[in-house]
Amino acid sequence: AAAAMAPRREAALVLLLLVLPPASAGLSGYFGTKSRYEEVNPHLLSDPLSLGPGAGGSLPASCAPLQLRAVLRHGTRYPTAGQVRRLGELHSRLLRRAAGAAAALADWPMWYEESLDGRLAPQGRRDMEQLARRMAARFPALFAARRRLALASSSKHRCLQSGAAFRRGLGPTLDFGGDEVEVEVNDSLMRFFDHCAKFVALVEDNDAAMCQVNTFKEGPEMKKVLEKVASALCLPVEELNADLVQVAFLTCSYELAIKNVTSPWCSLFSEEDAKVLEYLNDLKQYWKRGYGYDINSRSSCILFQDIFQHLDKAVEESK
Ligand SMILES: *[C@@H]1O[C@H](CO)[C@@H](O)[C@H](O)[C@H]1NC(C)=O
Ligand SMILES: *[C@@H]1O[C@H](CO)[C@@H](O)[C@H](O)[C@H]1NC(C)=O
Repeated sequence: AAAAMAPRREAALVLLLLVLPPASAGLSGYFGTKSRYEEVNPHLLSDPLSLGPGAGGSLPASCAPLQLRAVLRHGTRYPTAGQVRRLGELHSRLLRRAAGAAAALADWPMWYEESLDGRLAPQGRRDMEQLARRMAARFPALFAARRRLALASSSKHRCLQSGAAFRRGLGPTLDFGGDEVEVEVNDSLMRFFDHCAKFVALVEDNDAAMCQVNTFKEGPEMKKVLEKVASALCLPVEELNADLVQVAFLTCSYELAIKNVTSPWCSLFSEEDAKVLEYLNDLKQYWKRGYGYDINSRSSCILFQDIFQHLDKAVEESK
């Protein structure tokens, strides 16, 4: 009877493997700022120019758009030099002791170079071109010939390239009042945090400002993730730390965003682990960019004032 049972059990196992979703499918909701636009608008997967459901008549007839001011992040980028360095460190540890999941990951080609240092990826150019086309489709009257278009960017390479890709997305034939539109660099406007002395002193250059982040890195939730990943990789847990595990998770998100693939790095993490690592990143953004310190939001007043002054002016001039 046992012999007759065996093939059936095998068949059940094969079936189970077939219906398992790809490892990243359950994780991509936890990628934070590394999430793809497709994550929030799944219609983009089948049509990159989709405006989403009900986008057609979004403006009431009594409403005439006068001006559009948008603050956009850069498109999909490569990892920073620091992230590439940490990934290289983790990968070379695996090369030395390939066993278990480490063997598959040791075979993974480490193709990131430090020189990529946060630059815009080809996918990032497509992100921006398609974003421009979707915006133009949403506000055809504003993106018509002879309207004024101004693009401002920080001096970051990825942001300048994003601005250029956005302009390209609007097409070569659109004539914005003669001169070709240049991306205007203004770091005091677009990187207001770097220019705020109080923010730099109290937050950016102050190690104690991130104490909650460091406490979480050493806490029980992270410890559990570290132990699980160490055991999957057959590494002693002392060889791992929160930063190395975080870069492995980031690589899972980068490979999906940049190359549209489910990386073997994703297989190290369960959805529970992803929640812990998402929280770690959220915590950092909360204290460094968000509500954590009053000066974080106050430093952005320069940009917000600029936005509202221009909107007020557009209304004033329309009267
Ligand atoms: C940058 O933007 C600010 C705020 O709008 C403005 O006051 C300043 O003149 C701009 N600087 C340059 C170099 O354009
Ligand atoms: C990304 O991969 C999915 C699944 O393999 C595929 O269906 C889709 O067409 C790819 N998207 C792009 C933009 O290449």
